[in-house]
Amino acid sequence: MDDLDLIKQKINIVDLIQEYLPLKKSGINFKASCPFHQEKTPSFMVSPDRGIWHCFGCQRGGDHFKFLMEKEGLEFTEALEILAKKAGITLKKKAGGEKDKKGRLLEANLKTAQFYHYLLTKHYLGEKALEYLKNRGLEDKTIEEFNLGYAPNSWDSLRNFLIKRGFSDSELIEAGLTVPSKSGSYDRFRGRVVFPLTDLKQQVIGFAGRILDVGEPKYINTPQTSLFDKSNFLFGLNLAKGEIRTKNKAILTEGEMDMILSYQGGIKNVVACKGTAFTLGQIELIKRHTDTILLCFDKDLAGDSASRRGIGMADQAGLNIKVILIPDGKDPAELVLKDPKLWQEAVEKAEDIYDYYLSSVSLRFDPKTAEGKKNIAGEILPIFAKISNSVTLEHYLQKLAALIAVPEDLLRREVKKAAVSSLSYAAALRQLPVQSQDHFKPRREILEEYLMALLFHIPKSLTFVPNFPETLFFSEDYRSLYVLLVLYLDAISFKAQAFEIAEFIKGVSQEMVPLVDRLYLTEIEEKLEGSKSWQEEVTTVISELKKALVKASLEKLSAEIKSAQTFGKVEQLEVLNKRFRDLSLKLKNL
Ligand code: UTP
Ligand code: MN
Repeated sequence: MDDLDLIKQKINIVDLIQEYLPLKKSGINFKASCPFHQEKTPSFMVSPDRGIWHCFGCQRGGDHFKFLMEKEGLEFTEALEILAKKAGITLKKKAGGEKDKKGRLLEANLKTAQFYHYLLTKHYLGEKALEYLKNRGLEDKTIEEFNLGYAPNSWDSLRNFLIKRGFSDSELIEAGLTVPSKSGSYDRFRGRVVFPLTDLKQQVIGFAGRILDVGEPKYINTPQTSLFDKSNFLFGLNLAKGEIRTKNKAILTEGEMDMILSYQGGIKNVVACKGTAFTLGQIELIKRHTDTILLCFDKDLAGDSASRRGIGMADQAGLNIKVILIPDGKDPAELVLKDPKLWQEAVEKAEDIYDYYLSSVSLRFDPKTAEGKKNIAGEILPIFAKISNSVTLEHYLQKLAALIAVPEDLLRREVKKAAVSSLSYAAALRQLPVQSQDHFKPRREILEEYLMALLFHIPKSLTFVPNFPETLFFSEDYRSLYVLLVLYLDAISFKAQAFEIAEFIKGVSQEMVPLVDRLYLTEIEEKLEGSKSWQEEVTTVISELKKALVKASLEKLSAEIKSAQTFGKVEQLEVLNKRFRDLSLKLKNL
């Protein structure tokens, strides 16, 4: 056992957190109002069995160390020292090995950046790439500032270069620079313009490579390594952070080229999140420099659920969020190239995210019809329910009321309901319409999540092994988790032991642990703790899930039937109709 585990074992996480806020027992876990964001209904959960905490409101979570880091604003090593003292443990001196190794990988990255940069700017092999970048509007100064490079179209030129300088294949693989092969490893980036990914300490931690002209994939990136974690990285922040502070605004774009061209065009408070919906890690990076973000993405932020989640998290983190709109579906890179002034104007005209949502729904639905009103409220209220500032919330409720001509009071009541349902699965289940709507989390997903959470809250007295097929779960993750759980329950029921999360988790792969933790921390209503009501609930949810599956198939079938009708495919229509009748019957009997 290492020092970290020892500390966690010696200090009960409930005691530790109790020093800061009162915790209330809730089933197998403890709960409280979250100390990291404002909320009215507690959604901060702590598990003494797992030594972890998680807030279902702001999505922060972690272990002993993370709590202290967040609460006291400490670095990891500082939190470690404090907790070690508390646990009465003398820390072993950190072995030099780890540190040296990281240093070696950084060194390999630095040499790589220099190698690629040299090829781009000084070597004939890089001529085409240089011409490509110039065509895209990059100036020499920018190419220098961003240390851009060219990876030649070769399987081993980088590898040979670094092996000659004393690096091993395993080091290159670990840095993500090469990919393992029978004869050692081969270059990951080939025939691409290369963008070094530089962190706030000005260290090169990875690379992105863009193909010249067209081809797939357009970009490849350094995979997750011990240096590079894409969810905690924002491209360009190392250069932009000063300007972000000065302007007290950060522009978030999607791509490297958007960021670079905006920067070159004089709008320097800009970063890129590299195509992904932004994460909590990225929000925290930005929050250290400003409290206002301006989003400029290609996709429709209102229609995309991952973007909505990101925006919800940013709001909970206390950021003001605005949206930059670019006419004619252009991206910032294209706009700047046309004229930097146009980009500047678009930035100045950024509108508040909630105004953006309101105009987005009024384009998609008709605010005058009953149906349109229902759809608008259905999409907007769950979003408004997450607005943390009550003045802001009131402002937008009034706007919404005016848009769909419905009394404000009614919306106020509905938004409260929506707030509750986004916190508790059980409540959500009761309130969700049977026909789920696309823009809201589908009922099936909620049921799946709730069922898994229930299974992880099996009463101690029970030796129960569920016997439904794993295909009932749509999500691959849940399927494999469910199989593991059944195997585990099988084993312990045979030995008449009780469910122990700490035992179960030992058999779970590293990537799955956060998912298990989240399910285990999910609050299950207290009345479900008796073994009888628990079992009844499990049975009900299973049958609901079966129904939801059949309903989904029915919906798909009826679309197929419609299309067969339109195209007059008589034979096919018969088969489809029969299948539809059979399934409807099945649904009735479920
Ligand atoms: P886009 O497809 O919008 O590319 O992806 P782009 O930024 O307009 O790229 P250019 O201007 O044609 O060069 C947005 C971002 O998503 C990431 C890249 O960071 C890209 O800039 N991405 C995209 C990948 O990581 N892999 C891909 O295959 C595509
Ligand atoms: Mn783009």
